[in-house]
Amino acid sequence: MTEQTRPRSRATELALEKAYAAKGPEANRELYASWATTYESGFVVDSGYVYHQEVVKVFCDGFSDPGQPVLDVGCGTGVVGGELAKLGVSVIDGIDISPEMLAEAAAKTCNGRPVYRQLIEADLTGQTELAVGAYAGIVSSGAFTHGIFGPETILKLLRAASPGARFALGINSAHFEEFGFADWLGQRQLDGHISEPHFELRPIYGDADEADPNQWSRIAVFSAS
Ligand SMILES: C[S@@+](CC[C@H](N)C(=O)[O-])C[C@H]1O[C@@H](n2cnc3c(N)ncnc32)[C@H](O)[C@@H]1O
Repeated sequence: MTEQTRPRSRATELALEKAYAAKGPEANRELYASWATTYESGFVVDSGYVYHQEVVKVFCDGFSDPGQPVLDVGCGTGVVGGELAKLGVSVIDGIDISPEMLAEAAAKTCNGRPVYRQLIEADLTGQTELAVGAYAGIVSSGAFTHGIFGPETILKLLRAASPGARFALGINSAHFEEFGFADWLGQRQLDGHISEPHFELRPIYGDADEADPNQWSRIAVFSAS
């Protein structure tokens, strides 16, 4: 690993260690309950987090109807929604397991209006079923990662997508390799469920260390069939 150009605080390093160690819905609920009020003012600022901006840039570059509903998966405090709204996406729903993170997202505004139309508290690794065919776009940053979502969560999202819906899912690069996302999505293409996926390599942090796959994301871009 090469030396980082911008040292993070010990608090941010500890928060990341805890996040990567949290496995499954209960551990994540507990972790994000205690992190919600400082997630943006602490972690996002201190780490130079740019993941949400990268995912939204990739999503919007190809999303043709900003008036159609978009789902932000693992929305947390709403940093993705905030970026979408700035770029003119007007109907945004967020889904997350943590009521504390969702409370932060509910307070987020853009030009004096709430960013989110609806915020859904749900465990996407559990029995949750989303409204069928409800979304023309599906985005995510920071949730397809260690201990949260594997490829199978994408099946739920596909059911919630309208035909032709655009997906831009940020997937932690180490997790992407470990869980075989490329092969899994390739198989969904062969099954006729999605268009040919492509993967954009983008930094999670502004000063991402080239040698550390946990500082990079593969943004999976495809359309629902
Ligand atoms: C690293 S945060 C990312 C938040 C935001 N998208 C961002 O980029 O800052 C991961 C989010 O996934 C949520 N999460 C974890 N497990 C989940 C589950 N099983 N179902 C739904 N959301 C979950 C957490 O509550 C947290 O808000």
